[in-house]
Formats: sequence, C-alpha cells, structure tokens
Amino acid sequence: MSAYPTDRQPTHTPVMLSEVLALLNVRRGGVYIDATVGLGGHAAAILEASAPDGRLLGLDADAQALAAARRRLEPFGERCRLEQAWLDHCAAAAARHGFSAVDGVLCDLGVSSLQLDDPQRGFSFQQDGPLDMRLGDAAEQTAADVVNYYEEADLADVIYRLGEERRSRRIARAIVERRPLETTGELAQIVQSAVGRGPRRRIHPATHVFRALRLEVNRELERLSGFLASARGLLAAGGRLVAIAFHSLEDRIVKRFIRAAGSGDDAGFRSLSKKVIRPSADEIQRNPRARSARLRAAEAV
Ligand SMILES: C[S@@+](CC[C@H](N)C(=O)[O-])C[C@H]1O[C@@H](n2cnc3c(N)ncnc32)[C@H](O)[C@@H]1O
Repeated sequence: MSAYPTDRQPTHTPVMLSEVLALLNVRRGGVYIDATVGLGGHAAAILEASAPDGRLLGLDADAQALAAARRRLEPFGERCRLEQAWLDHCAAAAARHGFSAVDGVLCDLGVSSLQLDDPQRGFSFQQDGPLDMRLGDAAEQTAADVVNYYEEADLADVIYRLGEERRSRRIARAIVERRPLETTGELAQIVQSAVGRGPRRRIHPATHVFRALRLEVNRELERLSGFLASARGLLAAGGRLVAIAFHSLEDRIVKRFIRAAGSGDDAGFRSLSKKVIRPSADEIQRNPRARSARLRAAEAV
C-alpha cells in the first residue's frame, strides 16, 4: 500500500453528523464503538459530545485510516482507544479493550476520501493506479487477482451480484480477452469499450464493476452481516445501533437485519427509523459524497 504524504493531512467530512449524534443519543460519560472509524470525523464529534469522560473504541481495517484517526483523536487521550480490525471482528476487539454493554455502536460503511483519492489504492477509475482495492493489508486478494484469475463465469457472477450490472457477461468476456490487466485505467477503458457510454447514462459504466470488485476483495457484505449479528451483544439495553450505507445492497442487509431483529418474542432491537433517513439537500450540496448515504438506526431492547 502506498504511504500517504505526511505533509497532507487528509480530510473527510463526516456524513449526516447531526443525525448520527441524535440517534446515538450521545451523552456525557457514554461509551461508544465506532466500528469504521476512518479519519475519525464522527468519532471526534462523539467524544466531544460525551465530554468530559465519555469513551470511544474506534476500529478500522485500514492501517492508513487508523493512522490518520490516531492523529486526529490524540487530543482525547485515554478516552479514545483505536485498533486495526475488520468490522466482523468488532466483538472480539471490544472484549480486548473491556468495552461491554456500550451505549452506542456506529458503522459508516464504504471508503473515505483518503482511500478514494489515492490512485495507488486502486479504488477509483478516474485516476490510473494499480488494481488493488484492499481495505486492510489482511485482505487475501487484490482486485488484480479477481480480474486476472477468476473463471469468466465467476467474474460475471461477481459483477452481476455485487455490481448489479446486467451486462455482466459481456464485461467479463471483454476482461478475460484482454488479460492480464494491471491498472484501473485499463479496466475502466475495457468496460467502457465493452458496453459503451450511452448519452443518457449518468454514471460511468465502470462504476458498478469497481464497486463489485471492492466488495468482493474485502468481503464487505459478509462482514457487514457478521457485524450486525454481533451488535446486540455489544450494547446495553437502550443502547443504539446506527448504520450508514452507501448503496442498496448494503442498505438492504441493514434494513432486513433491523426488521428481523425487531420482531417476535425474542426481539433484540426496536427500529428508530421507520423509513430510511437520507441526507438533506443542503448537506448534499456542501458534500456531494453524501448523496448516496442511507442511514438506519435501532435501539437495543
Ligand atoms: C466512510 S469511511 C468512515 C469515515 C468516518 N466515519 C469519518 O467520519 O472519518 C469508512 C471506513 O470504514 C473502513 N471499512 C469499510 N469496510 C470495512 C470493514 N468491512 N471492516 C473494517 N473497516 C472497514 C474503511 O477502511 C474506511 O476507513
């Protein structure tokens, strides 16, 4: 992974911050877990709102994100603990740090500007870089492994399922014909020439393919399900779970989980968001990256 230039302190505007603080019900002395701490934007606000003695455990699979969070959250001293961990290893990390029966758990999924804007990480088709896309250095494979070594049918399946791209077979065929691929630029160009870019398409045809590869490389949907399954065990009764998703596949997992966990005699949660909560037009204007955010929240019962 590339070293992030140290003279450039990365910034990332936390999405739906006031909604997150309100739904987490952040209070003085509260104890919180930010399972995707990123650059620490939400975490810093939670620590401020729970001053002077609230505590927070921040986790992230990405060593670079964690290093940036460490710098940003340093002023909170012992009130903040940080660890490099995958989302679905949240319960084990919490136990290691003595965080139990917490007041709130947050996950803000996907990638941050730090990762997206660094061509060396390979998340963006707008800049040329290696086909990497690993969030954590523990990820078993890179995007180059997926495009160069998967069987054509399996590659098409990934693009169809995780990219929701109906022209998946045509794209997989074009990729296989041009193997080996090394860069994001090559991949974007192959996808574009395979499916074209009609005048009415608002987004680049490679968008779905890049998302599919990132989800596959990091097993993000499986990890989200594992994390949600462990969330009730982390929370005190009355504690809050807040999840921000950035596309319909993630949001569907959160929605179904909250619905299932909120029904029946052994219900573990009560939904706090009847309908999905979206950012205001004003926030989207200030921070265009917020536009696809979908927030859901539930209270542990
Ligand atoms: C949108 S950013 C979070 C930004 C953060 N809330 C802030 O305000 O700075 C998402 C972060 O979650 C991490 N992440 C995404 N999926 C993950 C997973 N499955 N396990 C661990 N970390 C993950 C990414 O590395 C990234 O740093």
